[in-house]
Amino acid sequence: MRILGIESSCDETAAAIVEDGVNILSNVVVSQIDIHSSYGGVIPEIAARSHIEAINPVINQALSDAKLSIKDIDAIAVTHTPGLVGSLLVGTLAARTIAILNSIPFYPTHHLKSHIYANWLSGNQPEFPLLAAVVSGGHTQIIYMERHDHFEIIGTTRDDAIGECFDKVAKILGLPYPGGPAIAKAAINGDPKKYHLPIPQVSDLDFSFSGIKTAVLRAVQKDLNLPITTPSHELAAKLSNQQIADFAASFQATAINILIRKLKTAAETHPAKSIVLAGGVSANQLLRTELEKAFSKTHQVCYPKPEYSTDNGAMVASAAYFSIQAGDQPTDPYSLDISPRSAIY
Ligand code: KG4
Ligand code: ZN
Repeated sequence: MRILGIESSCDETAAAIVEDGVNILSNVVVSQIDIHSSYGGVIPEIAARSHIEAINPVINQALSDAKLSIKDIDAIAVTHTPGLVGSLLVGTLAARTIAILNSIPFYPTHHLKSHIYANWLSGNQPEFPLLAAVVSGGHTQIIYMERHDHFEIIGTTRDDAIGECFDKVAKILGLPYPGGPAIAKAAINGDPKKYHLPIPQVSDLDFSFSGIKTAVLRAVQKDLNLPITTPSHELAAKLSNQQIADFAASFQATAINILIRKLKTAAETHPAKSIVLAGGVSANQLLRTELEKAFSKTHQVCYPKPEYSTDNGAMVASAAYFSIQAGDQPTDPYSLDISPRSAIY
């Protein structure tokens, strides 16, 4: 079964064709990072307009890279939630139109589910039951899956997402957007023990990341001998390269420590065979290394290939394939709803 997967929930316009959920025939991603980085974050109106320009060329490229025509496609899957409304509208409208014009079965897909399924594209397929840490710019959740169509959110952030926290700390340190890769790069020359940042005490399997961002801000102000009223945008220019590296390394180590601790607690209470990373932050090398250290003796450890960690169409097609195998029925493309927020279903 060949599925065309379309993704436009944030700042990547992407389309891919995947056979039987695991064989990637093509994968095209046009990123808007260069456009948004000058603003220090994603501007929703600009994102939607850029998707409009990119969506048709990206879909055509995915078909031509796979040497297929639309007649060879058995199903169309598209991200319909969660995400930026204007961005979601562009991808879903394109997908609905193609589905209607060519009478192709149509499957709206949840973005976080798709991130988990990026692991099925990487050769080391997870085993059920599994625990997935969905760590992206918009979400931080621990999800327990007993089988393909079973998603149970057992932990979630009460405020910022972990990727959002990387992005905000990067901004304080004067590093570019997106903050995750910039922090990881700066941290290479830094001392992760230089600054002590507190681990938030949040009950159950929930997270809180807004406090650690404020803790970095206060530590930077203190290191520079400046009052806490100093605006954050005035700090970066005063920091030396070594200070930036040490703050980046200390923050990265603390954020990852928070995540690993919660995953260990989750693994004590849930009989998982695999521990799975998903979402943009799963590209972080230190996180992968620490996850291996914590779990490789007791669990299968899985993470997506770097190119499938951040948003792409292949993961959308893979998620749709396995939900079809589990009995999911096509949706009427004339009556699709999009939604900026929604829990995984
Ligand atoms: O999954 P994604 O592409 O988009 C969302 O669904 O949000 O994730 C983007 C997030 C951004 O916050 C970015 O800073 C973070 O993933 N990210 C990273 C790394 N690469 C991307 N965070 C930490 N380390 C990285 N290497
Ligand atoms: Zn994403």
